Amino acid sequence: MPVDIQSAWRIGSVEIPSRIVLAPMAGVSVQAFRRQGRRFGAGLVCSEMVSCAGLSHGNERTLGYLRIGRDETPLAVQIFGSEPAVMAEAARMVEDAGADIVDLNFGCPVRKVTKTGAGATLLEDPERASRIVGAVAAAISLPVTVKMRRGLADGSRAALAAGPQLVDAGAASLTLHPRSARQMYTGTADHSLTTELVELVDVPVVASGDVTSRARAQELLDETGCAAVMVGRAAQGNPWAVGEIAGERENEPSREEVVAELVLFMRATVRELDERRATGFLKKFYGWYLGRGRFPKPFKQELVQLPTLADVEERLFAVAPGAVAALARLEGELPAEDDVLLDLPISVYGGG
Ligand SMILES: Cc1cc2nc3c(=O)[nH]c(=O)nc-3n(C[C@H](O)[C@H](O)[C@H](O)COP(=O)(O)O)c2cc1C
Repeated sequence: MPVDIQSAWRIGSVEIPSRIVLAPMAGVSVQAFRRQGRRFGAGLVCSEMVSCAGLSHGNERTLGYLRIGRDETPLAVQIFGSEPAVMAEAARMVEDAGADIVDLNFGCPVRKVTKTGAGATLLEDPERASRIVGAVAAAISLPVTVKMRRGLADGSRAALAAGPQLVDAGAASLTLHPRSARQMYTGTADHSLTTELVELVDVPVVASGDVTSRARAQELLDETGCAAVMVGRAAQGNPWAVGEIAGERENEPSREEVVAELVLFMRATVRELDERRATGFLKKFYGWYLGRGRFPKPFKQELVQLPTLADVEERLFAVAPGAVAALARLEGELPAEDDVLLDLPISVYGGG
């Protein structure tokens, strides 16, 4: 029987209502992005990677990443670091902040992170990686999950060697992005490794990498035996891809829909990051929303150069006047934003 993308599954005691996980993406996975992903059918959403050192030092910007809304649940907050005790302390803070799952980043390929012994480097040191999982699992009562690449070097099978050890140490689920760290985002994800990992462990495995359509998602679920698929780049400025994978829509959005979603996202981001930071943060999203043949290329360039977000909104509504009513409908349907469950001294959000 093929797995139904809309069926529920579990990570430990956490029930996840669909087989679609919205990927953690640094500089992208803000709360507005996660809320949007849920609206379009993601069963689980993730924060971007949060520095455990930043949390344990009480760095105000880092603490801002722990702003969690009630409507985001189930939510995984991802932390990175290399010291078991510091990771455990950070995980306790994540639990207190109201997350449902603590995810450990053993996949980041960026040198700034790997040179500290964190991220993908940990795949080459499964003993330390297992100690981190063990320390975090002992410190909190939430499920602990791990996200990995295949290894550091091209052709590496380090994730397959490490996977069972991480599960023995207490990991309740593993996500595999089967590219090497060296590959960054080039080439293709080799999901034959996902099939192998599923065979090796008795916890749910999530397949990450190149999931861009419902057909590909279903193929991965059927062929690898994974419990869920993760959607990353395909969802950037494109929640409709998540909707298509969820089976909730087939067609490309109209220009009015695109502008309405973009403006909704802009307004939510301003509330989250403040106007100044949101202005810079949003620039990359214009291309993502308006590209894909939806609007002529120079239009994006024009928006990026406008001085204020109010100017951007005005320009967007000028090219798609029907978006005003579409946006009002969307805003009317949204649940009230009900943020900040935590008791932490946060005055500024840490964002991307
Ligand atoms: C801009 C960007 C930022 C990312 N940041 C993170 C991160 O913070 N933590 C993480 O585990 N993976 C991160 N990833 C990797 C994604 O979660 C995902 O595994 C990868 O993009 C492959 O999936 P895709 O082909 O669906 O994009 C990032 C990817 C991108 C493109």
